Parts: sequence; C-alpha cells; structure tokens
Amino acid sequence: MKQDHLIIFDTTLRDGEQSPGASMTREEKVRIARQLERMRVDVIEAGFPAASNGDFESVKAVADAIKDSTVCGLARALERDIQRAGEALRGARSARIHTFIATSAIHMEKKLRMSPDQVIEQAVKAVKWARQYTDNVEFSPEDAGRSDPDFLCRVLEAVIDAGAGTLNIPDTVGYSMPGQFGELIRDLRNRIPNADKAVFSVHCHNDLGLAVANSLAAVLNGARQVECTINGLGERAGNAALEEVVMAVRTRQDVFGCETRIDATQIMPASRLVSGITGFAVQPNKAIVGANAFAHESGIHQDGVLKHRETYEIMRAEDVGWSANKMVLGKHSGRNAFRTRLTELGIELGSEEALNAAFARFKELADKKHDIFDEDLQALVSDEAAANTLELFKLVSLKVCSETGEIPSARVVIAENGLEKDGSAIGGGPVDAAFRALESIVNSGAELQLYSVNNITTGTDAQGEVTVRLSKGGRIVNGQGSDTDIVVASAKAYLHALNKLHSKLERAHPQV
Ligand code: KIV
Ligand code: ZN
Repeated sequence: MKQDHLIIFDTTLRDGEQSPGASMTREEKVRIARQLERMRVDVIEAGFPAASNGDFESVKAVADAIKDSTVCGLARALERDIQRAGEALRGARSARIHTFIATSAIHMEKKLRMSPDQVIEQAVKAVKWARQYTDNVEFSPEDAGRSDPDFLCRVLEAVIDAGAGTLNIPDTVGYSMPGQFGELIRDLRNRIPNADKAVFSVHCHNDLGLAVANSLAAVLNGARQVECTINGLGERAGNAALEEVVMAVRTRQDVFGCETRIDATQIMPASRLVSGITGFAVQPNKAIVGANAFAHESGIHQDGVLKHRETYEIMRAEDVGWSANKMVLGKHSGRNAFRTRLTELGIELGSEEALNAAFARFKELADKKHDIFDEDLQALVSDEAAANTLELFKLVSLKVCSETGEIPSARVVIAENGLEKDGSAIGGGPVDAAFRALESIVNSGAELQLYSVNNITTGTDAQGEVTVRLSKGGRIVNGQGSDTDIVVASAKAYLHALNKLHSKLERAHPQV
C-alpha cells in the first residue's frame, strides 16, 4: 500500500536558537543547514529575518546555500516582517514564508490587545502579503493548544482562502495532552470546509515532556507535517525531537501509515554537530542519540542480544548513524587522503585555502595524537570554523604552571585586532588561572555560566572539546574550543565566546 508522505520541518535554526544560550553565528547556521539538507529534511526554518540584521543575513546565507530542501523564514503577521522574510529568501531555490499571530483569548487580550475579528483580518492580510513573495505560505495560530476551537476554525478557513497552503497548529506552551491534541487536529480537518486545500502541521513544545507524543497523536489524526528540532532543542523545555519523531514513524509504520524521506544515518552526525555548536550536551539516556540509547547493561539483555539482536533491540544503532570509532588517518596521511575523508564525512571546506589551513592543523594534531578518528576530524573543522569567526581576539600562546602544593598560575598572549597583549594570573586550578589571565587583558565583565569538557574520542591522548557559556547585559553566548590540551581548549572556547559577545547585534524575539 502506498504510504502518505510526512513532511519533516526542522526548526533547530529558529525555535532551537530561542533556547537561552543557543544563539548561532551565520557560519554555524549554514553548517547545520547543510547537515539538515544531507539528512533530507523537507523544510528548514532558517530563522526570523526581522529580528536583527544578523538574523536576516543568516537566513539569506542559508537560502543561498541550500538546494535540496525548502528554506523557510518566520515572520509575525506584519507587513515589514514579511517583507524582510521575502527579501532574505530571494536566493532560495524553494522558499516558504511562515507567518503567525496568536489566537488564544489570553494572548489576543493581554499581549496583542486585539479583538478576535481584528486578528482574523490581520492573519488574512499577512497571508496575502506573503503570497506576493512566494506561493508557499504557512500560517500558525500561535497558542492554538489553548485557543477556542470554533475561533480556530474561522481563522483557518479564512487564511486558506487567502492562500495559505500549510496550517501549522502550535501547542506553544506545551499544555496539551496527546488524546486531546489528536482530537483537535481531527476536528479541525473535519469542520473546516476548505481543509482539503491545505496540509495540516503541528509544532509542539515539551513543557510537560509530551511534545513527541502530541506530535505523533496529531499524525495519527491526519497531520502530514511535523515541526521539530535536532536533540529537541527549543524555547524553554524545547520542541519535539526530530530523531524521535522520525524513528517512531519509521519503526512503527504499521501504526502510522506514512513515511518520511529522511536519511536516518545522518541523525547522529546532526545531533553531534548541533550539540557541539550550541554547547547543549545530550543526556546519556536520551532516546536515539543518547550515549546509552543502544547500550545493554544487564547480563540477561546482553545475552539475549548476542543470541538474537531483536530480543531487546527495536532499531539498529547503525541505522541512525552510530558507528564504532574509526581510525581513518595518521601522521603519514597525505592531503588527498585528508580531503577524501572529509568529503566522505560530508564536510565541505569551501576553498583551497580553507583546506590547506585545516590540513596544517591536522598535521599538528597528528604529531600530538597517534590515531585520528572521524570525530577528531569533525572537531578540527569546527575549531577551524570557530577560529575563522574570531574577529577581535585570537589566542597566540598560553603557559600554565600547576604543581602539587603550589598555586596554579597562567600567562597568556592574545592578539586583539592584530595587536599582541599579554596577561598573567593565579587561580584555583590551571583553567581558572587561564580564564583570569584572559580577563586581566580583556576586562569583559562577562559572567561565566557554564564550563564543560567532553572527550571527543577515548584514550588519554583524546582531544578535549570545551564549551564555555558567558552572559553579559542579558545576552548569553556559547564558545567552543578543542585541543589535546584541555587548558588550551578552554582558553580557545573562552575567546570564542568573547568574540561572539562582541560580534552579535541585539535581536528581537518573535513571540514578544
Ligand atoms: O511555539 C510557537 O507557537 C511558535 C510559533 C512561531 C509557530 O514557535
Ligand atoms: Zn515554538
């Protein structure tokens, strides 16, 4: 029997970026978008172009780079927002504008201060404005989960007539229960006279841990697009996790009767990339992408799996891109082997200069670390990209002294706009001393909110990947750095975060 197509709409770059501290640079967004395209996501929501010039440029860069997925921009139901989205998406091979306005009584009265009739009028105008830029228009009645279903029917019927092809029903505050949310989708589809002219979509938040359950209940009731994010990233408790929705629909085709076009083997690389860039670690017991998701601890389970895998496994780890650490290159590998492996990993460096710089760093790493794994190559390229976004501060050298019974100290040299400056400090440990030494030069006044180290592969010669989260004046940024020396990785991560603090302009939040 022919299965229905379930559209996967990824909003990691938009709603995911609304997680405090998850803001991404333009280059980082393009890298994630390329991975989403490789994974065959149908629609990539690249951002909210009216939020700031930086957001506009990021959406534009994604629109220009992506060829095999539709690129979408979010816009409030305002002419100026829609115009910015239309302009940012001009270069896209396939573009969608997603416009929204709140429809719950509490949002209309307290936030918008608009009557229900004014909201319908504004929604219709917004869809018509968006249609001037593209015939692919999505409309969301924000806070639909708490909206009056009769009013939702009126709004949605009107926006379909105005030209919206996708109706996205958001559970904005994560309040719905699966049975109730599924029923809402069924009712809307049955009651709206022109419902057959649009695709029903859902966008669920995870405040009660039900985002995936609610999304799947909607699919069972006829929704044919799910909005989701890698690792479930998103505003507050996050959105429905893409990997869970995709694997549920794939593993239980008998229940859902629809299929996605996702290449599931790209799920793990996407999860690692998003976690590395945002600094949001994946909990070990997270479904599909957590480190323990396919690990069997109990003897009975291990015995069962060895005898017949399916006794305890409903999916294969390799189907979602888990692979054993693979030794790919070493000290004697040449430039061609390096380039070939990067291509196999789907990493594009863009230019010969970038390839040469990355190869030089690979050689440096190979001098320090005997076996180079795929994960090392990915970290190396991320580090290279982070170094390239350095505008103001660059690490030149670092010396730390740490000895039992002695107070750790650090001396650091950085280049600030090309000008070398040095600083020294003591600290509770070598990392603390290094951060204090950096602060003695830059005096940023930023507050350190998070410091975390992950080893990229196993072994004591593994590279450490450090995330540093800094906040200043209400802004939160994450910086990353990797190196076989974790104090050096830490200093790089600290400078990366400082550069982000300096480089980003203020941005508006779409829902405020
Ligand atoms: O959660 C929400 O309602 C949203 C809309 C903009 C779709 O993110
Ligand atoms: Zn949302």
